[in-house]
Amino acid sequence: MGPTARKVSLTGIKPTGEPHLGNYIGAIVPALELANTYESVYFIADYHALTTIRDRDLLQHYTRSVAATWLAAGLDPDRTTFYRQSDITETFELAWVLSCVSAKGLMNRAHAYKAARDRNREAGKEDLDAGVNMGLFNYPVLMAVDILIMDADVVPVGRDQLQHVEYAADIAGAFNSVYGDRFKFKVPAPVVPPEDSAHTLPGTDGRKMSKSYDNTIPLFAPEASLRKVIRRIPTDSVPVEAPKDPDSAAVFTLLERFGGDDVVADTRARLLAGGMGWGEVKAQLTDALIARFGPMRERYEALMAPGSELDDLLVHGADKARKQTRPVLERVRDAIGIA
Ligand code: TRP
Repeated sequence: MGPTARKVSLTGIKPTGEPHLGNYIGAIVPALELANTYESVYFIADYHALTTIRDRDLLQHYTRSVAATWLAAGLDPDRTTFYRQSDITETFELAWVLSCVSAKGLMNRAHAYKAARDRNREAGKEDLDAGVNMGLFNYPVLMAVDILIMDADVVPVGRDQLQHVEYAADIAGAFNSVYGDRFKFKVPAPVVPPEDSAHTLPGTDGRKMSKSYDNTIPLFAPEASLRKVIRRIPTDSVPVEAPKDPDSAAVFTLLERFGGDDVVADTRARLLAGGMGWGEVKAQLTDALIARFGPMRERYEALMAPGSELDDLLVHGADKARKQTRPVLERVRDAIGIA
């Protein structure tokens, strides 16, 4: 297979929070695995974050922090095209073009937009669009551009983003049916990791770990605050002496994922026998996380330092990406009659 026959895996990461363990297991690890078999294109979707983040320092911080996390987790910038969405200016011109072939009715049915209206309805508001900005409404079009402009074959995403990838396929079809004799976008397909125990992690309340449930464990919090987060995980009040069901508690499930085999087996036996309290399991979990993510944390902190190579790496990634996006925009302009 020549280089042009290689398939492209592309995903965007929205910088709206501190990276947590659930992101690592559910998104970062699977995407890095795909980078072994696909040509990989991963970027920080900072303009998507603008629909919700209005604090400039925070947006800058999350953007660097998410980029540093992926690099610390093993993303190889020589192999993966890794950049900030905002550096690819072609994206925003193409967003207008594609919005002109996108059905408004399709956007009306987008999950995130509908959810915002449902919240207004439940709150008894008369204007169901209250608090909805055009960025939120147009979000699926911008995401379609991210995908289509890079000629992606597969898009690894969580279940919540499936509809957006379907919309991208739809929008590609809409463009192709009008202008396809001059230029055709490739129609992308989503790849959703199975919702099995290998790809999902319980959060501190036992539900799936997710920022929207406020039950996350940060990947790189300083040791003392990590200890505190884990100490606060709710557990049942069975007395220390009494036997406990290991599988009833998120702390044990998490220990199974990150602890050594002998610690896990020993703890399971001691919980079942009685005489071990949840506090001790929490301490074991904290130690396991510190051991497992320690080296990654060092790399993360080095990248987060002002003046590290992080910013240059992203600029270099954007240069690489624009070798792809510039000619695409030129061909689109030609196809639509704006040349
Ligand atoms: N909407 C995605 C999310 O919230 C982020 C994103 C932006 C994205 N553009 C993308 C994901 C393109 C995949 C492909 O997680």
